[in-house]
Amino acid sequence: MKFRTHNCGELNDQNLNTKVMLCGWVHSRRDHGGLIFIDMRDREGLTQIVFNPETHQEIHEQAHSLRSEYVIQISGKVELRPEGTENLKIPTGKIEIHVTQLKVLNESKPLPFEVNDTKDVGEELRLTYRYLDLRKEKMRHNLMLRSAVFKTIRNYMDNNGFTEIETPILTKSTPEGARDYLVPSRLNAGMFFALPQSPQLFKQILMVAGFDKYYQIARCFRDEDLRKDRQPEFTQLDMEMSFVDEETIFSVMEGLMSQIFEVALGKKIEIPFLRLPHSQALKKYGSDKPDTRYGMELVDLGELVSESSFMVFKKVLEAKGAVMGINVPGGAQLSAKDLDDLTKLAIDYGAKGLVWIKKQAEGFQSPVKKHLGDDLMNKFVETLEAKDGDLMLIVADSPKIAMPVLGQLRTTMAERVNIIPKDKFNFLWITEFPLFHYNDDEKRWDSEHHPFTSPMEEDLTYFDSGDLSKIRSRAFDLVVNGVELGSGSIRIHQPQMQKKIFEILGMDESEVKQKFGFLLDAFQYGAPPHGGMAPGLDRLLTLLTDSPSIRDVIAFPKTQKAICPLTSAPSEISPVQLRDLHLTIKE
Ligand code: AMO
Ligand code: AMP
Repeated sequence: MKFRTHNCGELNDQNLNTKVMLCGWVHSRRDHGGLIFIDMRDREGLTQIVFNPETHQEIHEQAHSLRSEYVIQISGKVELRPEGTENLKIPTGKIEIHVTQLKVLNESKPLPFEVNDTKDVGEELRLTYRYLDLRKEKMRHNLMLRSAVFKTIRNYMDNNGFTEIETPILTKSTPEGARDYLVPSRLNAGMFFALPQSPQLFKQILMVAGFDKYYQIARCFRDEDLRKDRQPEFTQLDMEMSFVDEETIFSVMEGLMSQIFEVALGKKIEIPFLRLPHSQALKKYGSDKPDTRYGMELVDLGELVSESSFMVFKKVLEAKGAVMGINVPGGAQLSAKDLDDLTKLAIDYGAKGLVWIKKQAEGFQSPVKKHLGDDLMNKFVETLEAKDGDLMLIVADSPKIAMPVLGQLRTTMAERVNIIPKDKFNFLWITEFPLFHYNDDEKRWDSEHHPFTSPMEEDLTYFDSGDLSKIRSRAFDLVVNGVELGSGSIRIHQPQMQKKIFEILGMDESEVKQKFGFLLDAFQYGAPPHGGMAPGLDRLLTLLTDSPSIRDVIAFPKTQKAICPLTSAPSEISPVQLRDLHLTIKE
């Protein structure tokens, strides 16, 4: 049986008077007493169909029973819409179909929410009825764009000589800093697979195997606390190359991003991307993923306040801390309560307090105005370039605290005073990350990226002097508009160096052997120098579609509590399944 001659998005005034068959959903209906108009929908668009009681009484009668989201098949003739009733916003808006046959292919229960409007619906409900949610125009668009972006990626990687290779999902865990999802093994009692947090070690081993240029659109699994840009399973473009330095990886990625933006948004982005060393990013923006679409940069006020008698500044400077500030354009409009809340926020982020100064035509306003004095406040104005109506925010603390706190206030306030330009994409490479950071809670060194990242040649001497915090790595992040889109590095390829890093991270020989023996073994059989990176594709699509949440670009995402309301996963398993897996559940 033939279902249709056209889709619901393709007929126009070129098709006048042809007989057509369409299939689709009842999107909306208007009953004008006599004529019944229905917008019929499929993936490609909407077509208006008309039931006329004078010419086709029986079918018109039948059309009365049609409800939202019924699946129908119609035959009819393409006619021009009467003058003045065209809808020029849609490609089919000049025509309508005069229906001569109607068949209901399936009915629909009354809907839990409308498909044909943009009203906010609770996310739990949206995800429970995801098949209805995905019928919405915005969601349809997002998933179609996702497919187009994936196709662009595959073409680009293929054209650039990359080989697509799959790596296991049931595997041994790679430490990327998150908790593993584990899968019990039936055939090996008491043993577990881990789902990969990324294909990191396999792609390095593929370099040892000589594949030279590898890529994969890879699913990754991480059991971590979820935020609006995190999912427990997500997708990376994972890639790795042999015999390259950072420059080659940067240019491959810049070329790819410019193709993606061209395809997805018809936009030319500027390449090469700007680069900013990690230490500079912290100093200027208080963040390793700065949004550079606006200024509001951090300014060191240490020198200006060196003579001040204000105890808060004095104490911090004596302890070799920093006094730093930002200027918020138009921030003087904040109320007393807003400023209290902002101070609380600063304290939540780790500050001991927050000095705020409003600069207004009639003078300064600040709770510590008396302690600071007009002279000093005028110096702040000059250095921070504050204008009447602006708000200056100052934090005194160790740089390790002052910088990120101001960085957080910077992003919060930029949104608040609405100075973030829309439709702008500021790409940025953050380079020269520290190789390690000290984990104060557990009193040990952790990798800033992952343990397979190569240190910078010029900093190798710090290994001997013990200044581990000074060692910079060959890791880099790709940042767009304040979002960490991807990260990568040039890797370690010598077994001795890799062993040394594991040692510093506190692993003894047997642990190294048990966890990473296979990697160290592989490195002993001619491992080439190599490096690569992995941009997160869900985050990329969130940016491209300007979506409020990462869940809007994934067909079947998990909620904040890491459950799937559609299938009710995770769920209990049967006693038989448990027994097969050699597991018992503790009450
Ligand atoms: P990393 O752990 O930085 O690096 O991850 C790379 C990118 O993956 C995305 N991402 C996520 N997206 C959604 N939800 C999550 N929970 C999530 N976690 C990470 C981000 C991030 O920038 N193997 C290394 C890469 C390499 O060195 O080649 C890795 O996985 O966009
Ligand atoms: P206090 O001396 O704690 O009463 O603080 C006086 C003012 O300075 C209050 O407005 C505090 O919010 C602010 N303040 C206190 N400590 C700091 C700090 N480390 N950095 C910036 N402001 C601070």
